[in-house]
Amino acid sequence: MGFRTQNTLGLTLLLLLLPLPLRGQTSMSCYGIPGMPGLPGAPGKDGHDGLQGPKGEPGIPAIPGTQGPKGQKGEPGTPGHPGKNGPIGASGIPGIPGIPGPPGEPGEEGRYKQKHQSVFTVTRQTIQYPTPNNLVKFNTVITNPQGHYNTSSGKFTCKVPGLYYFVYHTSQTSNLCVLLYHSGVRVTTFCEHMANTNQVSSGGVLLRLQVNDEVWLAVNDYNGMVGTEGSDSVFSGFLLFPD
Ligand SMILES: *[C@@H]1O[C@H](CO)[C@@H](O)[C@H](O)[C@H]1NC(C)=O
Repeated sequence: MGFRTQNTLGLTLLLLLLPLPLRGQTSMSCYGIPGMPGLPGAPGKDGHDGLQGPKGEPGIPAIPGTQGPKGQKGEPGTPGHPGKNGPIGASGIPGIPGIPGPPGEPGEEGRYKQKHQSVFTVTRQTIQYPTPNNLVKFNTVITNPQGHYNTSSGKFTCKVPGLYYFVYHTSQTSNLCVLLYHSGVRVTTFCEHMANTNQVSSGGVLLRLQVNDEVWLAVNDYNGMVGTEGSDSVFSGFLLFPD
């Protein structure tokens, strides 16, 4: 306000000084010298605030910002500390069976043979007739590898179950009936009446035996069996098919 007042005063003084010669030429003819113009009045008070203006037009929508270029890949961080072991999981499904392995070495052949063999041939070496109606003992072994024929008891005892064949060839100097027993049961009876001084008779049978079954030969009243040089009496048996 102070500056404005000073400025106004300066302007006023300038106006007073400049027109003086002009005015002097025109007014000096008939009128006296006009008086000095009065000093300008003091500025009026500030006006009241104007009314609020109308709402402006909506602005132009801003363009959405676009994503900037992808930044450079960062350096990998240092590995963390290993975690603690977790609990044991449930068992998985069994895998597919593997392919069969190569064939193994051949087994021990001897054992099978040993287990499934039973053979014997025994001979009765005596000129004495056996006791009538009794078991006949064959006292001399020709072959009896498993010992299944007992020369003391005169009986064969089955150790390997299966189908056996028994056969005998007897020499006689008197009437003779040979009976074959299977565990106390008579199976066959072959009788030969004397027609010559020396005769041979024979018989054979297949028997299915269980373990501990017994087989033996016997005579009845006709007991003319001998066993001497040139007149042998032999009894044989062998396993044909094991069960
Ligand atoms: C053979 O028979 C006799 C007389 O019965 C008996 O004492 C002996 O133990 C038997 N031997 C065998 C190996 O069975």
